[in-house]
Amino acid sequence: MTDATPIVVLVSGSGTNLQALIDASADPAFGVRIVAVGADRGGIEGLARARRAGIDTFELHLRDFASREDWDAALAERVGSYAPELVVLAGFMKLAGPCFLARFGGRTLNTHPALSPSFPGMHGPRDALDYGVKITGATLFVVDEGVDTGPIVAQTAVPVHDGDTVDTLHERIKSSERGMLVDWVGRLARDGFSIDGRRVVTPRKDPA
Ligand code: GRF
Repeated sequence: MTDATPIVVLVSGSGTNLQALIDASADPAFGVRIVAVGADRGGIEGLARARRAGIDTFELHLRDFASREDWDAALAERVGSYAPELVVLAGFMKLAGPCFLARFGGRTLNTHPALSPSFPGMHGPRDALDYGVKITGATLFVVDEGVDTGPIVAQTAVPVHDGDTVDTLHERIKSSERGMLVDWVGRLARDGFSIDGRRVVTPRKDPA
């Protein structure tokens, strides 16, 4: 087996997606090594999960920088210090800036709790519920300069139930989202990928 692919994961919250990656990485066959977990805030369960797993952590708070550009440059530098092949934004509630994208564009993945291109932004589950859709889900994509607009790696569909609240719907989405994230981060790390326009191309064909 080839060496595990080093990845950095960025989080802002409870870190259940991160936990799924930590759990999967325990198996060498998964082919991923989480070399660091970073956050834009402190006191979050996502960082605690990383520390419990013995993974290096760092915090870069926007308010500690003179400008967003400075924060973006510091984030690129810090992530780069771990020499990751892939960066995974797992509930990271900040947009990647130009400096970060100049260094990690094309190899930064993000997961969004809606079926793109519907309901981009911070409130995917709430916006889907308000719109009255019957199916929503989660989208894994390669980050570009837009808000949840990058080339799509994978999507998972989830039903909206009568009586759902934003929280019940988001929890249902998150349980599918975690499986999708683990499957695809592993697959992309092991097999590699390229981007052709809006398509993410992997060497292995999907089953017919
Ligand atoms: C996920 O649904 C992610 O798509 C969204 O925020 C949630 C993060 O959950 N941006 P967690 O922190 O991984 O538990």
